[in-house]
Amino acid sequence: MNLREYPIKAKLRDGSEAQVRAMDAKDGPAVLKFFRALPEEDRLFLRDDVTRPEWLDRFVRQIDYQTMLPLVAEDGSGIVGNATLYRPLYGWSVHVGEMRVAVAREYQHKGLGTVLAHELVKLALDAGLEKMVVSVVDNQIAAKRAFEKLGFRSEAVLKGHVKDIHGTKRDLVVMSNDVSHIWESMEALTRDYLPSLE
Ligand SMILES: CC(C)(COP(=O)(O)OP(=O)(O)OC[C@H]1O[C@@H](n2cnc3c(N)ncnc32)[C@H](O)[C@@H]1OP(=O)(O)O)[C@@H](O)C(=O)NCCC(=O)NCCS
Repeated sequence: MNLREYPIKAKLRDGSEAQVRAMDAKDGPAVLKFFRALPEEDRLFLRDDVTRPEWLDRFVRQIDYQTMLPLVAEDGSGIVGNATLYRPLYGWSVHVGEMRVAVAREYQHKGLGTVLAHELVKLALDAGLEKMVVSVVDNQIAAKRAFEKLGFRSEAVLKGHVKDIHGTKRDLVVMSNDVSHIWESMEALTRDYLPSLE
């Protein structure tokens, strides 16, 4: 995927800035620190237990910028956001990409999640993907709203499909959208705080 334009500077809604770039293996410890600092309610329904070093090892080993491309956002103090694009190279869903996004509490609601998702959609378009999906647990209100604003719609609900870190079962909502539609709605959304090239 085309990473030539990174790093870029994202100007956020409150005037603060974050630098967005592709993650590489040496970012591992900082990424683990970022995930460990997320409040439990933000980690409760993430697919993996992102606080475990074993998870980080697997995550870092998967980075190839083809099938798995993680972006990080950082300020002067460290990593404040992570967004990862997963894309199969073979099989009947080669046209479908999946994204996962997480933003540090102190940076939430400033547009960083939208900027990171925006970047992943650009990369997905660049890679020829036609559809994007994101999976959120039914009670992740902020995540659902964030993705709805980007043009995603609930496409399927898998009943009792996930257990949170305390073992409570929840429904998983698979949200999706046609990439070209996502692009249009994100262009409008990010017009005010579109990241500028460094
Ligand atoms: C989902 C998440 C990535 C959104 O990141 P963000 O940087 O806060 O998103 P943005 O600032 O771009 O907000 C986009 C929209 O999301 C909604 N939103 C964001 N935070 C919200 C909150 N706390 N409550 C309700 N809605 C919220 C709003 O509609 C917002 O648009 P607005 O600010 O114009 O009203 C962030 O909340 C997060 O990291 N959550 C924990 C991890 C997670 O659940 N990830 C999703 C699974 S992949």
